[in-house]
Amino acid sequence: MSKTKLLSFHGIAKMTIEKKKSDKEIMQAVAMTQPIAEGEYIILLDPADEKEFFFKMRKKGHINLHKGKILHEEIVGKPEGTLIRSSKGEPFLIFRPTLYQFIMHMKRDTQIIYPKDLALILVYADIYPGCTVLEAGIGSGALTLALLRGVGPEGRVISYEVREEFIQRAKKNIGVFLGGPPNLEIKLHDVYEGIQEKCLDRIILDIPEPWRVVNDVAQSLRLGGIFLGYLPTIIQVKSLVDALREDKRFIYIQVFESLIRNWNIEGLSVRPVHRMVAHTGFITLARKGEII
Ligand SMILES: C[S@@+](CC[C@H](N)C(=O)[O-])C[C@H]1O[C@@H](n2cnc3c(N)ncnc32)[C@H](O)[C@@H]1O
Repeated sequence: MSKTKLLSFHGIAKMTIEKKKSDKEIMQAVAMTQPIAEGEYIILLDPADEKEFFFKMRKKGHINLHKGKILHEEIVGKPEGTLIRSSKGEPFLIFRPTLYQFIMHMKRDTQIIYPKDLALILVYADIYPGCTVLEAGIGSGALTLALLRGVGPEGRVISYEVREEFIQRAKKNIGVFLGGPPNLEIKLHDVYEGIQEKCLDRIILDIPEPWRVVNDVAQSLRLGGIFLGYLPTIIQVKSLVDALREDKRFIYIQVFESLIRNWNIEGLSVRPVHRMVAHTGFITLARKGEII
């Protein structure tokens, strides 16, 4: 197959090649390959037990560990992946946090959606570059961060939240990881009072009683739009599914949960690890279509 044919066959690859990157996009991509700078948050990894330390690089800062002391100035200016030695000669590796690592280390004032579920949400709710997503509530901002990645600079995320202090927490977390994304709009608003926006591509609710707003969700989603509810108990899920079925504007209703089981691979000890996160939340999906 010729190169031209291959490019047009993979429509998305073609788009990426032809679309001129904005200065901001180029700067962001370059920044990720630049040496670690003062003000950045980094992961210091002890390779012996893979224990992670997460902290902000300061001009005159240092980190004290039982394996010795490391000055921040020994890290600033080095590319990620570099090996650093503590004052006791112990080895550590430095990395920029991935989205997964950042979410697990960031400060939280609420329960968050864990990366194992965020990964599924992005694909099952079909979060695509350029789409407009409404979420409630913002909590500590874990889902918001994943959604902003998914919608990209041309998409939009609108977040409703009833508690001002959680908005402040989420803003701080999002600011640390992404700066102040211009395509995120946070509203101090109770979603049970209604959804103001119309023609939304996706709506994701991580609130206790989403069944109370099924009618608003149906009115605010565009035809073909996708709704996703995230709930900790199956009793809540039952109330939500009953309301979605009763509404008649939803199809493809499905419920699932995710269980990730890590494996230990060492010599003859090739087996699942002994502990796992057994339960986080249930995902309920539905798609809006015309009434049959
Ligand atoms: C479990 S937390 C959300 C966590 C968030 N998805 C994350 O990943 O960090 C639930 C949030 O919903 C907010 N909330 C509850 N009821 C709400 C409502 N009626 N309207 C808007 N936000 C609401 C709570 O204040 C809380 O911040």
